[in-house]
Amino acid sequence: MKKKVLFECIECGYQSPKYYGKCPQCQNWNSMVELSSGDIEPGQPSPERQAVSLSHIEETQTKRTLTGLQEFDRVLGGGIVPDSVILIGGEPGVGKSTLLLEVSGILTRTGKKILYFSGEESAHQIKIRAKRLKIDSSDIFLLTMGTLSDLKKAANELKPHFIIIDSIQTLHPDKHSLISGSISSMKWATSEIIEFAKKNGITVFVIGHITKDGSLAGPKTLEHMVDVVLYFQGEFKSDLRILRAEKNRFGPVNELGIFQMTGQGLTSIKDPSQLFLQHHSVAESGISIFPAMNGLRPILIEIQALVTESPFSGNPRRISVGFDNYRMSMLISVIEKKLKLPFFKSDVFLNVTGGMSIRETAGDLSVLSALISSYKNITVPQDIVIIGEVGLTGEVRSVGFIDNRIKEAIRQGFKQFILPASQSSLTHIKNISITSVANIFDFYSYIGKSR
Ligand code: TYD
Ligand code: MG
Repeated sequence: MKKKVLFECIECGYQSPKYYGKCPQCQNWNSMVELSSGDIEPGQPSPERQAVSLSHIEETQTKRTLTGLQEFDRVLGGGIVPDSVILIGGEPGVGKSTLLLEVSGILTRTGKKILYFSGEESAHQIKIRAKRLKIDSSDIFLLTMGTLSDLKKAANELKPHFIIIDSIQTLHPDKHSLISGSISSMKWATSEIIEFAKKNGITVFVIGHITKDGSLAGPKTLEHMVDVVLYFQGEFKSDLRILRAEKNRFGPVNELGIFQMTGQGLTSIKDPSQLFLQHHSVAESGISIFPAMNGLRPILIEIQALVTESPFSGNPRRISVGFDNYRMSMLISVIEKKLKLPFFKSDVFLNVTGGMSIRETAGDLSVLSALISSYKNITVPQDIVIIGEVGLTGEVRSVGFIDNRIKEAIRQGFKQFILPASQSSLTHIKNISITSVANIFDFYSYIGKSR
């Protein structure tokens, strides 16, 4: 047996047998801590582990549990899959504890028992929150502060259906060699919890904090271990909260749940398109409407562009919020090259309103429309929905889910569409007006006429 000393960076998880004042991976100073100095024992195979033939494995119907909090069930892909481990990440204060306490309250109404571990708040604080949420259940059991083995002991006694860990950063891992809140401690605790959950048929929600600067080092390193990863986001000035599925072994990713934080907790927003569409009384330049797919649901969003003369000649600003900056630069280059519009003299700002983001290429033509409309100061009629991907030669390419997008737009009262030529004859939807464009020249001459 040999003695081993290992150091780990608490910021990024880099490990090394040598101590560094500055982490070689993430360049942070004084972030290395000593992990273990114990003896390392050779591993032993466990007698109960055996390989099983696939055809001998019984098929079981997974019956999902619906929480009744509609948007939450949607993000999970239609309710909670039994024995799954679900990670919920988000900045402090966004509402993770509120969400899970609310879900706990709803679950107890259908006879479920919950074990709620909180390493951050006292039982009294949780009671106050529960009162605000109008939850008073004898089936929610609180365990405040404590270690992983305290949690397992409580679970063995109570036999809960669900365990909530609020948060993984504050659950003490028991192993003395690990420091609470470090990456290796979180990984260790999570893997123990996963094994415990699967063995005992318990569903576990794990809360993980991420920091304001978007540093995901903590929960990010757990993503590959758990079944579902959800991120909870929101602007603090607004009461809107967005829950996004980043990974889901049992459902579509990128699915969004949209909530409003009220005085009595979170409520589901049922018609998000209405929320993101502002009805402008006068037509403005630089605006376009796009039905963005989020998982399986289209949501209508507004794209705004502001193109102004740049005071920094030769080095204009290109700033985009909610749309990939590189993709915006690419679209600008296509406009410059193909339509001969000299954007290089202009600062460009692009914003997807309501804190939403476009993560698909189907939004290209709508973004391009907003850019050209602001640059030329022409108004594109705001009852037109624009859909299409733009290629480097200026061609407008087909996109997925075209009918779903159109239907959602119709539901919101839109009747006019600009669509890729390759797709405009394929849609079976009646009573709408379609302008088909094969490339951005077609598009440019159309909006040129409509000013
Ligand atoms: P919280 O769930 O504590 O956030 P997290 O666990 O992600 O750190 O939520 C904190 C915020 O939510 C806090 O600023 C108060 C607000 N809030 C409401 O507006 N309404 C409510 O009913 C509750 C419980 C919280
Ligand atoms: Mg909390």
